[in-house]
Amino acid sequence: MRESTAQNYCKTAIYRIISRNGAVQLKQSGQIFILERNTKTMDELLTLKNIHMEFSTGKSKLISVNDISFSVRRNEFVSLIGPSGCGKSTILKMVLGLVKPTSGEILLNGEKLGQHSSRIAVVFQNSALFPWLDVKKNVEIVLEPIIRSKEKREETALKFIKMVGIDGFENAYPRELSGGMKQRVSIARALATSPDILLLDEPFVGLDVFSAQALREELLDLWENKELPPHTVLMVTHNVDEAVQLSDRVIILSKRPSTVMAEKIIPLERPRNTRNDSFYHVVDDVIKTMSP
Ligand SMILES: Nc1ncnc2c1ncn2[C@@H]1O[C@H](COP(=O)(O)OP(=O)(O)OP(=O)(O)O)[C@@H](O)[C@H]1O
Ligand SMILES: [Mg+2]
Repeated sequence: MRESTAQNYCKTAIYRIISRNGAVQLKQSGQIFILERNTKTMDELLTLKNIHMEFSTGKSKLISVNDISFSVRRNEFVSLIGPSGCGKSTILKMVLGLVKPTSGEILLNGEKLGQHSSRIAVVFQNSALFPWLDVKKNVEIVLEPIIRSKEKREETALKFIKMVGIDGFENAYPRELSGGMKQRVSIARALATSPDILLLDEPFVGLDVFSAQALREELLDLWENKELPPHTVLMVTHNVDEAVQLSDRVIILSKRPSTVMAEKIIPLERPRNTRNDSFYHVVDDVIKTMSP
């Protein structure tokens, strides 16, 4: 499948180069298409092995997730895409340790969940801020268990508030902010903890088109800056364009009880032009794979 994709793209001479994140790429006429991953240079950070999840609903049982296995490598941006109700949020909750799978194993940095020392941060669709705390305190509060010095906590909070572009609003309360600004606070709060992995559950869905696009680009800039968190991202989305714009790899889930239908490496150079034929071609390919 990968060979034929490459053949479609490459009509003239091609040569191989190795990128910073370990992807093997094909370069042709100035355009680069990622062909395959060199897995030796990209070790697995998060691994889900044969995850099965059943919920008891009254007398009956509902199988949400059926034998799902996938991994996210260090420094990768991976999207999880699938129909409503297929268990995407449940998978993130399992990774967060909020819900225990009925069977299967989740490893973070090679250690079992619950016994690991890695940090996980999450941004939900609704920013989930504390309404009684101002912006600065909303960020500082998550730093209390990890930074002892009050001054250092304040300095870290202000650094991340600035990074997401809401400096000047440190003392504002959530009710005084727009949806996009609240989501920025939520991202600042998640990143301030320097997580090993950032989980995103449809983080742009409540925003207008322009705010969503601006925030996607800023998140991507942060992810591409290897000096700053986040280094590794697992994002749930319904939006195929968004997944193709942001991700190294897209994992496609079937409808409930869900399994992994396919994994697609996104073969586009960064920064990605979301308005050209190569982009539309990849979006179409993902949509076709998702269609029953
Ligand atoms: N605590 C729970 N108790 C019972 N059933 C649950 C529970 N949490 C989730 N479910 C069920 O599990 C299935 C998957 O839910 P989940 O929220 O993970 O789906 P999703 O893929 O995130 O959907 P969406 O795209 O609409 O957000 C749904 O059928 C839901 O009703
Ligand atoms: Mg969900």
